[in-house]
Amino acid sequence: MTSLTEDPPIPVLTIDGPTASGKGTVARAVASALGFHLLDSGAIYRAFALAALNRRTNTNEIRQLEEIAKALSLEFRGESVWLDGMDATDSIRAETVGMMASKLSAIPEVRAALLTRQRDFAQAPGLVADGRDMGTIVFPDAALKIFLTTPSEVRAERRHGQLQKHSAQTKPKTLPNSAAKRLIDKGNSAIITDSLESFASVLEKIQQRDAQDKNRAIAPLKPAQDAIVIDNAAHGPKQTIDAVLALWKLRSN
Ligand code: DC
Repeated sequence: MTSLTEDPPIPVLTIDGPTASGKGTVARAVASALGFHLLDSGAIYRAFALAALNRRTNTNEIRQLEEIAKALSLEFRGESVWLDGMDATDSIRAETVGMMASKLSAIPEVRAALLTRQRDFAQAPGLVADGRDMGTIVFPDAALKIFLTTPSEVRAERRHGQLQKHSAQTKPKTLPNSAAKRLIDKGNSAIITDSLESFASVLEKIQQRDAQDKNRAIAPLKPAQDAIVIDNAAHGPKQTIDAVLALWKLRSN
């Protein structure tokens, strides 16, 4: 027997934007205020990249990368990310891993293998999803699509500030990226951290990642046609969060 009533669609709010645009902070706060689930799609791509690094997979071994993506043993436990049964919360945030995620995410087979995993996050009572292609590809019917833009210099300043703070807190344990790479080569993924870099170097990496994410042939970083673009260069996160919540209220009414 077929049901005459259809389930209402799960409300989805997407927040896309470039690296260090603050989308993660905004998405987390908005999800918490609305009581919605949160999808940090970048964490999925980063975990996949770390899995590929740990297995020393060559970046041109497409079939093998596709298999790793399909079989990814990944679990979100509250704020923590577990990969292959190990806590990878900090390791996936390292710049080495972010850069590898950016590189490998340009492979269509990898994106296809990770698509359903992302769509499965759309559960009642609703979802806030952040990434690069949430509004364009993963949730094209989302009720509200936000695209955050911020000049790369401003994002580099923020990121450099975070690195300085982090380095002051963890000085004795911090390893340069070259050392981190050697540890990855030895199969030790638990100790990857970022080293304190100059502002110029941070800016260069952000611009390189922007170029990779924007210029790839599949699911490039760009606002959906019906996205609302917010330039948050001059705002703190609170103003952006309030603006997104106000827009959601308008849309829901
Ligand atoms: O948002 P992030 O910096 O954690 O993402 C890391 C990389 O993963 C990003 O440079 C490109 C890729 N990514 C993607 O291709 N699509 C997404 N929806 C999210 C991230």
